[in-house]
Amino acid sequence: MRKKVTVVGTGNVGATTAQRIFDKGHADVVLVDIVEGLPQGKALDMLESGPVTGSDASVIGTNNYEETAGSDVAVITSGIARKPGMSRDDLLLTNMKIVTSVVTEIAKYSPDCVLLPVTNPLDAMAQRAFQVTGFPKERVVGMAGILDTARFRTFLAAELDVSVEAVSAWVLGGHGDTMVPIVGSTLIGGVPVTKLIAKDRLDEIVQRTQDGGAEIVGLLKTGSAYYAPSAAIAQMVESILLDRKQVLPCTVYLEGEYGVDGLFVGVPVKLGAGGVEEIIEFDLTDSETKALQGSANSVRELIDVMAKA
Ligand code: LAC
Repeated sequence: MRKKVTVVGTGNVGATTAQRIFDKGHADVVLVDIVEGLPQGKALDMLESGPVTGSDASVIGTNNYEETAGSDVAVITSGIARKPGMSRDDLLLTNMKIVTSVVTEIAKYSPDCVLLPVTNPLDAMAQRAFQVTGFPKERVVGMAGILDTARFRTFLAAELDVSVEAVSAWVLGGHGDTMVPIVGSTLIGGVPVTKLIAKDRLDEIVQRTQDGGAEIVGLLKTGSAYYAPSAAIAQMVESILLDRKQVLPCTVYLEGEYGVDGLFVGVPVKLGAGGVEEIIEFDLTDSETKALQGSANSVRELIDVMAKA
């Protein structure tokens, strides 16, 4: 029997994610939204692409959660997106309410699923989902680091005129202005990037990475990125469904790792059938460790605001 993946939210991120998962054919997909007709219409359109793309999976759209029952993975994309000039943190209290109600429903019908929050501000929403559902920490894993790292890799590959696959890099920390591209461990075909790109230029690329989401929002004007985010989500879903145990930067609950305790922050993890199977701790320079802890403090500020709301 095929696995089952629920995607909540049929905006650009949710719909594109559902399409990528459906195209692979590993899982049946349930698309959920509160707007009547929207998930049904998008799902039917997607289903009708199957004969062309070769997917035998099913995809249905629904406005109620009964049909999500027994999902293996639930991707949470619902919430409002940024407009130009807004930070991800400006979305906090509105999206907190939406995520709270969505994950409550998901947990009711799929108590054993892996929850994959995507809604911004991501780290805070992952923490909220963890608190509300009471799921074990292994089964709540947010998407952000793969996206931020993909942006960093894209810019480095373009700078050096090499394949994106030649670039091995990690962007850790919170999914915000304080995210931490780990320059000290970035390798281009095995060669440290610091030997290939001058510091000033590297600083510019790091800055562009940190502003990567805002750059897209500034261009689109009416919403935020979705092609790269959905690709990142699909990679996580596949690593879980196929028990691939890929090591990927994801947002998980830390209990002392990297000197952070009781918070969701982006770090390298092994993702398999059980969700987060291991948190990988690698050596950071002192300044990288400090930056990661600074980024964690920004996440904590949002958690404190939610606690008072
Ligand atoms: C981004 C948004 C989706 O980074 O957080 O593009």
